[in-house]
Amino acid sequence: MAAFKILTAVLAVLCAWYFYNQETFSEEMIQGKRVLVTGSSSGIGEQMAYEFARLGAHVMLTARREERLQQVVQKCRDLGAASASYVVADMSNLTSARRVVEETKNHLEGLDFLVLNHVGGTRFGHFEGTIESVITSMTINFFSYVQLTISALKMLNESQGSIIVVSSISGRVQSPFAVPYAAAKFALEGFYTSLRSELHLRKADLPITVAVLGYIDTDSAVSSVHGKVKMAPSPKEDCAREIVKGGALRQREVFYPYWNIKLALLLRDWQEPVPAGMPVRWAPLRAAPGMRRGPPHCRFRMLSPDPPTSTSFSPLNCTSPKGPA
Ligand SMILES: NC(=O)c1ccc[n+]([C@@H]2O[C@H](COP(=O)([O-])OP(=O)(O)OC[C@H]3O[C@@H](n4cnc5c(N)ncnc54)[C@H](OP(=O)(O)O)[C@@H]3O)[C@@H](O)[C@H]2O)c1
Repeated sequence: MAAFKILTAVLAVLCAWYFYNQETFSEEMIQGKRVLVTGSSSGIGEQMAYEFARLGAHVMLTARREERLQQVVQKCRDLGAASASYVVADMSNLTSARRVVEETKNHLEGLDFLVLNHVGGTRFGHFEGTIESVITSMTINFFSYVQLTISALKMLNESQGSIIVVSSISGRVQSPFAVPYAAAKFALEGFYTSLRSELHLRKADLPITVAVLGYIDTDSAVSSVHGKVKMAPSPKEDCAREIVKGGALRQREVFYPYWNIKLALLLRDWQEPVPAGMPVRWAPLRAAPGMRRGPPHCRFRMLSPDPPTSTSFSPLNCTSPKGPA
């Protein structure tokens, strides 16, 4: 009994110490800072731009759709951004990625937050077995992130700035039907966590926040998995706020939605793989006899495999004519 009381007291002191030492988020952490947000013409990137704008940052936006960028820039100004501008660029071209950083330097004369968020060149569906789809995904969703980082490093070092990398649960847990996307997200996690560790060993003050996201209600995500994923998406506005806050507080990781991601990470070693040699096809969400659950983080429902059409699994012999879009 005495031991229990001592343990409780020690735990209470540790908790109090932990919460006392937690830095709290304040507007001054963002006010007047110079921020580049990629993929900010829609979705989470657009919402992060609004969040930075509300807090009085100088925002530089980039994506391919100029009209959308103009609208987002206008809204950023209305929300109170210290300044807002954009540069049109396609991240499938690494020269464009370099140019975005140069334009940012010309406009903002430095950089405090590099927010890497854009996503493109992938679709939710069977891996069609071509190297091109993987190269496209790796170029847009990985190499361009690396190029932007390399080009911005000097500015970030000078300002003692931060990098925010928007990743996904697909960068930590196997993700059927998103193979090229998952490859790029796993690569991001490997690159940025290793870079963070190396910078730490070199005593460089450049924090890297990796945001690990679940299913968020952006138009593109909802339309691409509509009817195929059972769980409800989380709100993009709240997601953007959590990422900006985590970046400002220089946290190593942001999990959103927190408990879904934590649970998925906890269960990842128990995920059922799709049996080798067995093509799969999509099933309606209402369970039918013979169905089994997919991985816990995405809750796809897959039909029991069709009769095998070949002895070894090849993405090219998946039999679904109605694969996901
Ligand atoms: N939504 C989710 O459920 C979810 C889940 C996990 C992780 N994430 C991650 O969150 C981030 C944002 O996702 P989101 O759902 O907000 O995506 P989104 O709404 O589709 O927005 C993607 C952004 O990237 C830009 N983009 C696409 N291709 C591009 C290219 N080739 N060059 C330059 N910009 C390009 C798009 O603008 P343009 O078309 O104008 O170029 C758009 O601004 C991504 O990193 C994604 O992996 C999202």
